[in-house]
Amino acid sequence: DKKIVPYDVIGEQKLHQLVDAFYSRVAKHPDLIPIFPKDLTEVARKQKQFLTQFLGGPQLYTEEHGHPMLRARHIPHEVTPTRAKAWLSCMSQAMDEVHLTGAIREYIFSRLTLTAQHMVNTPDDTL
Ligand code: HEM
Repeated sequence: DKKIVPYDVIGEQKLHQLVDAFYSRVAKHPDLIPIFPKDLTEVARKQKQFLTQFLGGPQLYTEEHGHPMLRARHIPHEVTPTRAKAWLSCMSQAMDEVHLTGAIREYIFSRLTLTAQHMVNTPDDTL
């Protein structure tokens, strides 16, 4: 039996469109602007590599950068529950924009939700 590879279902072109649509929203999100660099070119390039392998495609991120160790790579950045929500909201809107719908969207979004929750490393201010 052949396994279904999500990366093959979505395809390289749509994945790249999704990542570009995502970072244009990140660039404008008041909760995310403070922790992202002004120039998002490099992080978008890395995210395309990462999501390619996350969705079962070629190991592009690992080939260039080594083991993702995503949580460790986020430790220098204050990822709060509010920022995780903002990240996921940008992603959901980007999915709308590139017309990613149906079961593949639900599948990808649920895996990204788990990963985003795992990246949280700082509490929201309780004041
Ligand atoms: C890098 C924020 C979730 C994948 C980064 C950077 C920030 C950030 C600030 C560094 C940008 C830079 O200065 O280069 C966040 C926030 C998240 C989140 C606030 C909310 C939960 C995620 C998730 C994924 C992800 C869910 C994967 C599905 C990456 C990758 C990088 C990155 C691949 C590049 C790492 C590298 O430098 O090699 N993120 N992130 N992030 N993030 Fe996230």
